Amino acid sequence: MKRLLITGAAGGLGSEMRKRLAHLAETIRLSDMADMGDAAANEEILPCDLADKDAVEALVADCDGIVHFGGKSVEGTWQVVRDSNIEGVFNLYEAARRHGMPRIVFASSNHAIGFYRQDQRIDNAVPPRPDSLYGVSKVFGEALASMYHDKFGQETAIVRIGSSFPGPADHRMLSTWLSYADFVRLIERVFDVPKLGCPIIYGASNNASSWWDNSNVDWLGWRPQDDSEQFRAKLDAEMDKPAADAPQVVYQGGTFTADGIHETDD
Ligand SMILES: NC(=O)c1ccc[n+]([C@@H]2O[C@H](COP(=O)([O-])OP(=O)(O)OC[C@H]3O[C@@H](n4cnc5c(N)ncnc54)[C@H](O)[C@@H]3O)[C@@H](O)[C@H]2O)c1
Repeated sequence: MKRLLITGAAGGLGSEMRKRLAHLAETIRLSDMADMGDAAANEEILPCDLADKDAVEALVADCDGIVHFGGKSVEGTWQVVRDSNIEGVFNLYEAARRHGMPRIVFASSNHAIGFYRQDQRIDNAVPPRPDSLYGVSKVFGEALASMYHDKFGQETAIVRIGSSFPGPADHRMLSTWLSYADFVRLIERVFDVPKLGCPIIYGASNNASSWWDNSNVDWLGWRPQDDSEQFRAKLDAEMDKPAADAPQVVYQGGTFTADGIHETDD
């Protein structure tokens, strides 16, 4: 690609992928409303609030691909979730429609299906069961991507990311962990395949204790290589296992399922 846009570039995943996706394009365009530091030689930095329609239009112009990490990444007040994850995603897809429909990686979340139980194994055809306003906003983004694909041919990889951190922070994440290296392998496949469409992909490594079945997207050729089992003994030693009826061991979305509606910002 000539130019790849990464939104949410100041965040956890954005700053990690800024380093790891440089090989995918001549220029990496980085955007966030938080500070992103200085641009490297192959980078351009365009700060922008995703809720600002005109700014998003300018952001997307001249890009051949988009990795969309920007937005509220946990539960928040409706106003914040709406501005970043509803208005923001709509602005992004409208801008993409007007600027050549660059292929998009949409960072959806396990919280779009968080009310499935951990003893259920689910594939990408199950109806959503969001566990929070945040999860609902990700379901909106998935639906929007689907509509822009059916109506206009816009291609999107909808990635229901599990837990993409250096390692699992608790026992639940042994099932949901997505290593950075496996995420890079997935994004490489998304921009490599001749025809993408608009598939839903569970973003998890090759974890022995996974709940998710990606067989419907085998054709993508993504073969995650890491397994969270390497962290189990350390987690066992460091923390007690929660009670058998605790949300973090009952539901796939963990404690998000027990959270109330947030009326004030953190
Ligand atoms: N990290 C994970 O394990 C995980 C799991 C599921 C889904 N996701 C999704 O992946 C994406 C990245 O996650 P992360 O962990 O890096 O989150 P993060 O909170 O660290 O980063 C998100 C970034 O988006 C920016 N942002 C928020 N609202 C914005 C707005 N209105 N305009 C411009 N920028 C805005 C923030 O400033 C932040 O830098 C998010 O969309 C999140 O929902 C991540």
